[in-house]
Amino acid sequence: MILKTERLVLRPWKETDAECLYHFAKNPKIGPIAGWPPHESVEESLEIIKTVFSKKETYAITIDDNAIGAIGLLFYPYTNHFWGENGVELGYWIGEEYWGQGLAVEAAEELLKHAFEDLKIEKIHACFIYENHQSKRVLEKLGFRYFCDKENTDIYGNETREMAMFLEKE
Ligand SMILES: CC(C)(COP(=O)(O)OP(=O)(O)OC[C@H]1O[C@@H](n2cnc3c(N)ncnc32)[C@H](O)[C@@H]1OP(=O)(O)O)[C@@H](O)C(=O)NCCC(=O)NCCS
Repeated sequence: MILKTERLVLRPWKETDAECLYHFAKNPKIGPIAGWPPHESVEESLEIIKTVFSKKETYAITIDDNAIGAIGLLFYPYTNHFWGENGVELGYWIGEEYWGQGLAVEAAEELLKHAFEDLKIEKIHACFIYENHQSKRVLEKLGFRYFCDKENTDIYGNETREMAMFLEKE
């Protein structure tokens, strides 16, 4: 599946994106705040492309076929999951050089449209740690609403407070 917006193409990750992914994902401002450690080598980025980014509904956010971020839906097919039955969670990041241009919102709008219209998903959740003002703004601009507060631990084992939000099909 390929999704297009005015400025972006969302497409499946390719092994040849590994260099590009490493360039952005080694930045400590990207991963830890979203729950994963900075990448330490191109080989690690390649492994993530083959394992994590090969999952369904996981896209490279590209400009001129260069991957500048990632966006995807995580599916939780468990009845007792935090999100409830068949929970779906939106996740995203954009390379730092591209922050502040509304690109995460632009990519997410298209993916949400695809989720509601094509995949017939009824409700999508997302969460962020309270310090992540940037991610909160993205979700607000997308129309997400408050769901609940959530305790968690970050990748370093420190306790964190997160806000969970949700968006329903109109
Ligand atoms: C969250 C993230 C995806 C936002 O992407 P983006 O395309 O820059 O989003 P926007 O352009 O809509 O900007 C969102 C907010 O970020 C802030 N922002 C914008 N440019 C910024 C910059 N250069 N530095 C710091 N903050 C900035 C602004 O508060 C902005 O809100 P505003 O439009 O109301 O002023 C991006 O910052 C990112 O990848 N962060 C690290 C990973 C992450 O947090 N992922 C989400 C995990 S829950």
